[in-house]
Amino acid sequence: MKVVDSILDLIGNTPMVKLTKVAEKGIAEVYAKCEYMNPSGSLKDRIALEMIREAETEGKLKPGYSIIEASTGNTGTAISFIGAYLGYKVAIFMPEGMTPERIKLIESYGAEIHQIKLESSSEEKSVAGAEVEIGTRLKCLKLERSQPNTWWARQFSNAANVKAHIKTGREILEQMGGKVDAFVASIGVGGTLYGVAKALKEQIPTARIIGVEPASANYPISEGFSKIPGASDDVTGGIIEEMMKSGLVEEVVKVTNSDAITMSDRLVREEGLFCGISSGANVYQALKVAKELGEGKRVVTVLPDSRDRYLSEKKYTT
Ligand SMILES: Cc1ncc(COP(=O)(O)O)c(C=O)c1O
Repeated sequence: MKVVDSILDLIGNTPMVKLTKVAEKGIAEVYAKCEYMNPSGSLKDRIALEMIREAETEGKLKPGYSIIEASTGNTGTAISFIGAYLGYKVAIFMPEGMTPERIKLIESYGAEIHQIKLESSSEEKSVAGAEVEIGTRLKCLKLERSQPNTWWARQFSNAANVKAHIKTGREILEQMGGKVDAFVASIGVGGTLYGVAKALKEQIPTARIIGVEPASANYPISEGFSKIPGASDDVTGGIIEEMMKSGLVEEVVKVTNSDAITMSDRLVREEGLFCGISSGANVYQALKVAKELGEGKRVVTVLPDSRDRYLSEKKYTT
């Protein structure tokens, strides 16, 4: 068994599990990378560490500085965890209406939390967070401009986010022995899909890269990337825009919350994978792709976060 000097050494290198219960016979093999097994419970530990380390190297983040970030939960938790470990003050700006568990998780790591009233009418909150984060990003922008010794991580446009997930992609290649026919991942700010796509396409140009978004998204990427009206370049676009222009993503498909939740319940109950709702969306779509590809092929997806942050949602209390 591995012994490490720091909890930060346990970020990444997550296990990969073959899905045997939810995948029927006669379709491609489906593998799920257990990102919820990162120390703070999501794949955002990877980007938080990469962004913080890079900012330190570039001299943008120094001892005594505060770190701020806009997040619907997972990035906020990850930054709170790593920031506290490294001795930084952290303040997280979160849209109102997120589950109390997410707030408690962030507070557990000792960070300040500010809940911001949603401008957007979007009901999307369970898969990922891009568009509902705009109001919170505006707060960060104002603070960054007005407060000295403050570093805004800017996950939605920070190149270190993509860099972190190029490493995720390389881990996938290693775990799969270089054989991957398709990769499926939900899009929040796009770092996972774009980073993994870059790594996979470099080795396997024929690999199909498929993005997933909530069917309820107000500005669907699947209908052509469009900027959110009224939002400036300082708070929108970023990685998603670059990814959609790169041509690496073959398709972005919509998955309903109901299909995502049903599949995430099956993953917990049948496969023993204690994962959240976007994991359900990812696997729902991965199974569809596996049917299309047929036996002998391999589809890989990720389980982005842990079920622990959704436990109080009504649908899990019955
Ligand atoms: C639960 C969950 N799943 C998936 C994603 C998508 O990740 P990314 O932001 O890398 O696109 C996020 C990120 O916002 C998330 O919080």
